[in-house]
Amino acid sequence: MGMNISVVGTGYLGVTHAACMAELGFNVIGVDIDPTKIKELSHGNLPFHEPGLPELLRKHVASGRLRFTTDYEEISSWADVHFIGVGTPQRADGHGADMRYVDAAVIELATRIRGKALIVGKSTVPVGAARRLRTLIEEHAHPDAEITLAWNPEFLREGFGVKDTMTPDRLVFGCEEPGSEALLRVIYSRALEAGTPVIITDFETAELVKIAANAFLATKISFINSFAEITETIGGDITVLADALGHDARIGRKFLNAGVGFGGGCLPKDIRALQARTSELGLTHTMGFLAEVDEINLRRRERVVRLAHVLLNEQLVGARVAVLGVSFKPDSDDVRDSPALDIAVRLFNAGADVLVYDPKGNQNAAERFPRLHYANDLAEAVAQADLVLLLTEWDEFKALVPADLEGLVAARRIIDGRNVLSRSQWKDAGWEIVGMGQHHPPLDGEL
Ligand code: UDX
Repeated sequence: MGMNISVVGTGYLGVTHAACMAELGFNVIGVDIDPTKIKELSHGNLPFHEPGLPELLRKHVASGRLRFTTDYEEISSWADVHFIGVGTPQRADGHGADMRYVDAAVIELATRIRGKALIVGKSTVPVGAARRLRTLIEEHAHPDAEITLAWNPEFLREGFGVKDTMTPDRLVFGCEEPGSEALLRVIYSRALEAGTPVIITDFETAELVKIAANAFLATKISFINSFAEITETIGGDITVLADALGHDARIGRKFLNAGVGFGGGCLPKDIRALQARTSELGLTHTMGFLAEVDEINLRRRERVVRLAHVLLNEQLVGARVAVLGVSFKPDSDDVRDSPALDIAVRLFNAGADVLVYDPKGNQNAAERFPRLHYANDLAEAVAQADLVLLLTEWDEFKALVPADLEGLVAARRIIDGRNVLSRSQWKDAGWEIVGMGQHHPPLDGEL
């Protein structure tokens, strides 16, 4: 095949993409400005948890097909195609996306490239970014360079990154410039031959597909969580409601799990960035509903904290609270905007003695909140607990039965923040158990 590919940015997206491109047979170099990360990756060490990725990384570092560098010089004229997978976090001064890393990567490349090259944007960006980057490239490109730009949004989920990259459910190519579609078709030939739908479109649509998908998913979660507020007030079973809704093929059951809400590095910042962008475009009301989506999501955390107060008879100070799960979702060590970690911190700030256990997320959480206590395993976390909170649905926690905690806790009280435990089973074993969306009379009239 012989194509050389660079991937700029070695976070979740970049490393997964780079390793999968190597698996597909291309020569790949991953680039990042962080020398520590590059050193680790060059030794085949993955600095975060992602199932299946360590194996792929080691395999292709060993085969020589996958390398890492901090040096743009090394890749600029070596690669035929440069994927941009750097972060677009929320800006410190507002809700918009911070584009400085994308802009810097594009300028670094544009000033160095000689001859022909294709730059492919993968980062989630505000609509209009690609067209602006096109101008930026023209301003910075060397006269001997012939640079084309394409936008190819990435839909991978953490925890399923390798699978989602190798067998995506759709491919979106924002291709307006000659030759770019043909090159992307070569790169993704395996998925295309397997029948993966491909959408060829303009820059704006390609950018919007990604942000619209995330806004829709966030809305779906907050939609069911808003009904959880109703069942919490008047009664009803939120899980049965979701199941019944899910049978309608137009609605579908996925992303209708009521719980502590969404978090992570994408959904929260993407819905904020979309509102900021539409306001910039003069459409002040268009995405107004996303402010509600955000608020419903954040109210879930308050509900759990209020439940904890009520279950502990308002005696939170000095109470031992076990928090099971701090990552924003299972099979991930990512604690960015994690509802579970936020709840743990709020309980700590309210005076509780909080002991946290997550199968993979402890270290990242401890870096952000060193003052919380972290347990090495579940038994240590729940020892002498006055209250247990299940906040991330790891398999290990989903499989819990009352007998597992018997003799360890000080009091049989549990909040099931993800509605994954059998309430009747826990009640029968003498536990006070409260789930999300569950009517709990002492909290009547409160959200
Ligand atoms: C998301 C998108 O799914 C992915 O396509 C995009 O590329 C990046 O953003 P990710 O952040 O990995 O992926 O997580 P996802 O699996 O979408 O879950 C997001 C959050 O929603 C998690 O905190 C999860 O716990 C929560 N969630 C999900 C619910 O609360 N209820 C649900 O029913 C589903």
